[in-house]
Amino acid sequence: MSAHNASLDKNITLNTLRKYKAEGEKFACLALYDAPMASIAENSGIEVTLVGDSLGMTVQGHDSTLPVTMEHMVYHTEAVRRGNDKSLIIADMPFMSYSTAEQAMLNAGLLVQAGAHIVKLEGGEWLCETISMLSERGVPVCAHLGLTPQSVNKFGGYRVQGREKEQAEKILHDAEALAKAGAELLVLECVPADLAKKITEQVNIITIGIGAGADTNSQVLVVNDLLGVTPRPPKFSKNFLAQYGSINEAFSGYASEVKNGDFPLEEHSF
Ligand code: KIV
Repeated sequence: MSAHNASLDKNITLNTLRKYKAEGEKFACLALYDAPMASIAENSGIEVTLVGDSLGMTVQGHDSTLPVTMEHMVYHTEAVRRGNDKSLIIADMPFMSYSTAEQAMLNAGLLVQAGAHIVKLEGGEWLCETISMLSERGVPVCAHLGLTPQSVNKFGGYRVQGREKEQAEKILHDAEALAKAGAELLVLECVPADLAKKITEQVNIITIGIGAGADTNSQVLVVNDLLGVTPRPPKFSKNFLAQYGSINEAFSGYASEVKNGDFPLEEHSF
């Protein structure tokens, strides 16, 4: 199957994403880790690139993101930046690199100097002071709620979060607090679709879903899942390479399916 290959015709900025949200236009995000993939992604119309600490699993072969260090994240952010021209780059702050506000300032600075436009942090209300400080110092923040993989040991495994009423209310409350503190974007990972819809409608923040249903402002997938190289792919992913036949077409197909609302389907949601 062939997908329309629409490479980005302008630099994507935070303002572009705010405009998309205001106009109800969906955009695509892909987690990837190197220059050639970054280049193919933006030439396929994928607006946002996430240098995810998922690289601990997808690149380094660990069974969690916990061994990933700032040095690894800087290395991969620099590589992605070299392959990138127009897309917006979010880089993950790895485990324990933002446990105090001061540590977060220092490490966020390193990621921005490596080429990130936005930094991503996992966690709820406890991050508000850090987010305000980063935002006031000119560093835009993407928050991350739901299944936050750096807390895998606390969760006791990779499980859907927010199924119970109390848990769902806590996630909504955290989303409101993070937005108020200055977070511009919010990744919602493995939460029920109706909760992600409620947050997207009620909270003044741009939402990016993964296993969070079809109603977030954007979708993110991990490149290995999209290309079918993950041994046990998660329910929320789809093998676009099998469907479209080449990496370029798979990336373009993903971008257009997100924009048209053809991905994700109910079968990819909780
Ligand atoms: O590390 C990552 O790739 C992520 C996405 C799964 C959202 O955080």
